[in-house]
Amino acid sequence: MFVLVGGTGDLALRMLWPSLAMLDQDGFLADDVRLVSVAREAVGSDEFVERVKAAVTKRAGSDLEDGTIDKFAARISHLSLDVGDVEWGPKLKAELGETDNLDIVFFLSVSPSLFKPICEHLLKAGLNAKPNRVIIEKPLGRDLASSKVINDSVAVAFDEARVFRIDHYLGKETVQNLIALRFANTVFEPLWNAQSIDHVQITVAETVGVGERLGYYDEYGALRDMLQNHLLQLLCLLAMEPPSGINADALRDEKVKVLKSLKPINEHNVLTHTARGQYGAGFAEGKPVAGYEAEKGSPSGTETYVALKAEIANWRWAGTPFYLRTGKHLPSRATEIVVQFKAVPHSIFGGQVLANRLVIRLQPEEDISLTVMNKAPGLSAAGGMDLQPLALSLSLTNAFDSNGTKAPRRRIAYERLILDALNGNNAAFVRRDEVEAAWAWVDGIEEGWAKVYPRPQPYPAGSYGPVSAYTLLDRDGRSWND
Ligand code: BG6
Repeated sequence: MFVLVGGTGDLALRMLWPSLAMLDQDGFLADDVRLVSVAREAVGSDEFVERVKAAVTKRAGSDLEDGTIDKFAARISHLSLDVGDVEWGPKLKAELGETDNLDIVFFLSVSPSLFKPICEHLLKAGLNAKPNRVIIEKPLGRDLASSKVINDSVAVAFDEARVFRIDHYLGKETVQNLIALRFANTVFEPLWNAQSIDHVQITVAETVGVGERLGYYDEYGALRDMLQNHLLQLLCLLAMEPPSGINADALRDEKVKVLKSLKPINEHNVLTHTARGQYGAGFAEGKPVAGYEAEKGSPSGTETYVALKAEIANWRWAGTPFYLRTGKHLPSRATEIVVQFKAVPHSIFGGQVLANRLVIRLQPEEDISLTVMNKAPGLSAAGGMDLQPLALSLSLTNAFDSNGTKAPRRRIAYERLILDALNGNNAAFVRRDEVEAAWAWVDGIEEGWAKVYPRPQPYPAGSYGPVSAYTLLDRDGRSWND
């Protein structure tokens, strides 16, 4: 049984119901799985089901097969309930029917301020009993203290093993593939350290602005909204030691170690280790757009762009920085990891030998390429040998096509996460100590900014971000892979 609290909300209609429908179409939902929506909005069950059908049809488009929608709709019911209602728990229980032997997954797709009352209702009604579990999603706080409050409010009803914290990046096929790339191949791991790698870059660039979410975003900014979670998760997957298996605790133990090894960034080094930007008027996807403050209608110190230099104080990575950057209204949408290897210790060719570079593109398309130096074909007037860099390149979409297998449909990240939660597998979810270690590090940066870097630097929408992001790498004699 799957209970979606906040079932009428925007995320639910855009992502969650369509994900459930696709899981159903692909045969991942057992026949007896019921899907119950709970939300404050007073809407009849039939009318609600029609709304879900429309949302699924819109999202799935041509991926929707005949018969899926009706079979799926038959599983859904809706209950209008206000969290303030003292009878919330008993009323939900009555809707669910006999709950003693049910295996229920609750997805709380509501503001975190409602987690506490909802978990208390579930506790009082006995709906929190094992094996029932709960899925929650960011914003899980805006600093360490508030994140603890949120985690505590859920912990009253569910022990940690039954709390599934979503970071939707961990549900992306391409992000999952990072684990396969590192640990299912022998060629990378022996070189995956400070001896061979000069530095790593992680970029998550977006063309969109903050749009409708300004109210939320102005309180958070790029550091809290993106870097604290998605970019740090990518960093963990790239930097962690090989886990003993891909079970939840083995993986998450290794990720926490990385987070705890991050060197602090605070008021003493925040100016040399970070760059903050805020978009001004410019262009996005060819259309003129207003600046952030104009959208907001008042001055704001919130950053829509952040870049930083993360250093990991352990044997593997000492001396190899990880540069992270993310921003809104940048020229193109791209999530990309660049692993820059060191140059050969001595060139026998006289000229420059460029160092190998492994580029892993995760979005919008997935491809992996490794630049290697080659002899340029032909004769050289000066004698000797001319070199040129070429890429060994793998496009994952094409690779599946050329095998004669249709490239698999690009799944919504939530499909995998919901399926894992239904199966009780929390390896792709974030453990409490991970979230808290990430906040502890980010808090240092926020505090440092508050003291010495209060205003983000402007950049025009549609540009590559503030100048300070380039200075950040220039200072180390490096440059971004643009
Ligand atoms: C969300 C952020 O977590 O991730 C958004 O709150 C951001 O600001 C989004 O746009 C990016 O996700 P994706 O999957 O489009 O890369």
